[in-house]
Amino acid sequence: MTAALPRASDCLEALAAAFDRNTVLIADDIPVRNMADTCFLPRVKPLAVVRPDTPQGVATALRICSEHGMPVVPQGGLTGLAGGAHPIEGAVALSLERLQGIEEIDARSATMTVRAGTPLETIQKAAEEAGFFIPLDLGARGSCAIGGNLGTNAGGNRVIRYGMAREMVLGIEVVLADGTLVTSLNKMLKNNAGYDLKQLFIGSEGTLGVITRAVLRLQPQPGCTMAALCGIDDYDSVVRLLGAARNGLGPLLSAFEVMWPDYWHAATERVAGIRKPVEGQHAFYVLVEAQGLDEALDGQRFQNWMEAQFEAGLIADAAVAQSKADALAFWRTRDAAGEFQTVLGPHCAFDIGLPVAEMDNFARTCRQRLHDEVSGCYSVYYGHIGDGNLHIVALVEGAVEQPGKEINRVVYETVRRFGGTISAEHGIGTVKKPYLPFSRTPEELALMMRLKRALDPQGILNPGKVIDLPIAE
Ligand code: LAC
Ligand code: ZN
Repeated sequence: MTAALPRASDCLEALAAAFDRNTVLIADDIPVRNMADTCFLPRVKPLAVVRPDTPQGVATALRICSEHGMPVVPQGGLTGLAGGAHPIEGAVALSLERLQGIEEIDARSATMTVRAGTPLETIQKAAEEAGFFIPLDLGARGSCAIGGNLGTNAGGNRVIRYGMAREMVLGIEVVLADGTLVTSLNKMLKNNAGYDLKQLFIGSEGTLGVITRAVLRLQPQPGCTMAALCGIDDYDSVVRLLGAARNGLGPLLSAFEVMWPDYWHAATERVAGIRKPVEGQHAFYVLVEAQGLDEALDGQRFQNWMEAQFEAGLIADAAVAQSKADALAFWRTRDAAGEFQTVLGPHCAFDIGLPVAEMDNFARTCRQRLHDEVSGCYSVYYGHIGDGNLHIVALVEGAVEQPGKEINRVVYETVRRFGGTISAEHGIGTVKKPYLPFSRTPEELALMMRLKRALDPQGILNPGKVIDLPIAE
């Protein structure tokens, strides 16, 4: 670690004076947990971990840091894949892990007010116990925190029906770079009284402010869930099946996930305990899910819809879930991606976005280029195709060090060529920052910088993440 600058020791002293010893951790007390997120960057020991347990505490910490020009990296559940919460040497890690809990469930307004450090799964369970449903769902549900979900505008498994995280939020509370606490815990679906400020911070990856609390919309609990795992022989049929699902299932359609054979092989042959719902070789495996109100009526509607797709020749083979356990087993083929880190080892993971019609062309081109241009590299393709969001896992298996730069260059150049986005749901963080201009115009980037300068003139909030800002002129 570089020697602490005088202002750093002043800042630590001021923090230590404002908080107890359980809130400001330094030196050997810094937990390993806070030294990395989930993006394969090497561990970094921050100058200190500050973990207030109230919104006012977060405001105090930021005020002190701002007075000392101290950079701050906000941290939540540390499950991010883009390096947004990865610590910076010499900077304070501001962890929301102790700012936990559900403050209120307002059943009549169908809202829930939560603190930023609360794990997503805790929120899902509390909603269920109160007879409601929180549609936000992703593999890391047990350890990710809602503050990080909102900070990154998380996507996940049910975007096709309920939208991204930002569409599930009615109000937020945020601490600005100078320590100002802005409480905007709106509960109304409609509120056009001036700018919609919350949307500035949702998806800003902690570069414009630190979210401390949020008001979430509660949805009615689905009465029944139907699912099918389909084997399909060509991409045109996949696209036509998506159109048919939109038309025939309407608002019931809650997921449309597609897995290419390279992914299917890795998920069902390499990850232990994954049962194949359909046998045989297919060009695509599609998981269709619908949520209805009434088991008898909607179950029959789903069954009829599936039969019509068979008759139309879109589906080669399919299994329709007969029970909750079946539906879970279908999802396990898709959730197996969460095991790749253990089973395949270090790899590069992507969450690119493309127009749905272009997905397979892209996958073919990208797979070929990675094979030709990066020695020993193979890649697998899957994702939320109904949302135009494709995941890629690419690696040179067993390599001492992954050729990350080469792999990124090939993937992002191909994304640029296809007019896609380099991040559909995980965010930019540090790992995608060099490629942001591949997906944004110079005017868009300049506007982002203008916002950043206006809200964080010293450039202390998560510096070096998302966009580069020259330190205050
Ligand atoms: C997924 C995560 C990685 O969809 O976004 O599996
Ligand atoms: Zn995803």
